[in-house]
Amino acid sequence: MKNSYIWSLPTRLFHGLLVLFILGAYLSAEEESWLLWHAAFGFAVGALLLFRIVWGFWGPEHSRFADFDLKLSSLKTYMLTLLNSHKTYAGHNPAASFAVIGIIAVTLLLVLTGLLTYGVQENRGLFAFLHGTFFKKMELFEELHELLGALLYLLIGAHIAGVFLDRLLHPSHGTLRSIVSGYKPIEGRSVKLTFFQKAIALLGIGLALATPVYLLTVRDNPLTATHTAAVDYRTEHPLFANECAACHTLYPPSLLPGRSWRRLMADLENHFGDDASLEAAETQNILAYLVANAAEHATSEAAFKLSASMSNMDIIAVTQTPFWKKTHRRIAADIFARDAVKGRANCKACHSDVERGLLEDTNITIPGERS
Ligand code: HEC
Ligand code: HEC
Repeated sequence: MKNSYIWSLPTRLFHGLLVLFILGAYLSAEEESWLLWHAAFGFAVGALLLFRIVWGFWGPEHSRFADFDLKLSSLKTYMLTLLNSHKTYAGHNPAASFAVIGIIAVTLLLVLTGLLTYGVQENRGLFAFLHGTFFKKMELFEELHELLGALLYLLIGAHIAGVFLDRLLHPSHGTLRSIVSGYKPIEGRSVKLTFFQKAIALLGIGLALATPVYLLTVRDNPLTATHTAAVDYRTEHPLFANECAACHTLYPPSLLPGRSWRRLMADLENHFGDDASLEAAETQNILAYLVANAAEHATSEAAFKLSASMSNMDIIAVTQTPFWKKTHRRIAADIFARDAVKGRANCKACHSDVERGLLEDTNITIPGERS
């Protein structure tokens, strides 16, 4: 029997890279501090999908969406005759056609909701303009993103199960091998790429490979850099910056709501066991600045989540807020006790940008750990 060339190199490269990039995005979703990697993989997946969609219209036979068998009746027949049919498919069988379209559609939505979350919560990327708008309190996109992630793993699971079932039932069809070699042991026409198709493939695959490399090496790029400006408290409010960083990290005013600052500033004499009292005029001056820039007036994810978590509790320490406790619960007590950390309240040991009012996920390192 003759061997036919079914899956051209660009189609196979797309498939292989998609597996790698999705795996990368999955693994890097684990830690907040790996967000840049997660975003880089996400953008790379997006670029790959763009290529695949173009390829689906102008690519070679079998890879074109028009060649997919997306009729429900075909799917039904295929499923019902799975065990005793010996029909071979040059391209995708009906079940695989649905799986591929499903995976492409869900992955596209995953990239879109990821971008929205990145814009709304992190003030980064193409949707950064949504940060600080009425969306600021929304975790809707993040929740959708997680839901779609789960759906994608289900689809991938079904797809892999299908391939292995096919391998078991129809070993002679050579489907599994064709993923790598591109050849299937069937009669038929082999695909041959036109010059135009080769050009699209070079551009598309090249773009998908260049995207993560660019995002990870050029840190100040328009797709992942934050749009949040750092604050220089020493020039903006020298009194606050000098007095309130004398004993500890300079806590940005946005980390607590106004009422917490009022309570804290009302009793500086008994300030966490220290006397931090100031002259009345200075206290008033600092309090006014803290209240004017308190959580209520901030748009950062940290500001919103910290104060939302305390609801009506009378808390004057960031480390006492439920959100702070929740995000730091995986950090062992002995890490906080390290000389290089010196306690939970010493944010700047791990958050290199806290004194510039930022607290970005990409600026977290635990002293003494590999980052
Ligand atoms: C004389 C030293 C001193 C000065 C000055 C001082 N603090 Fe503190 N502050 C402390 C100590 C000690 C703690 C407790 C830290 C800990 O729990 O490890 C603390 C804790 C805090 C916390 C809670 C940190 C947490 O656990 O989340 C806040 C908020 C705070 N201070 C704000 C201020 C502000 C605002 C000023 C300026 C008006 C200020 N502090 C000035 C000594 C000081
Ligand atoms: C020992 C190191 C360490 C110290 C000290 C520390 N943090 Fe963190 N913080 C982390 C790590 C690590 C994470 C990420 C946790 C995760 O994603 O699982 C984190 C996460 C956060 C987040 C959540 C970021 C997000 O986008 O969800 C906020 C907000 C935060 N820290 C604020 C603070 C503040 C304020 C202080 C000081 C009062 C502080 N942290 C002290 C290590 C530290």
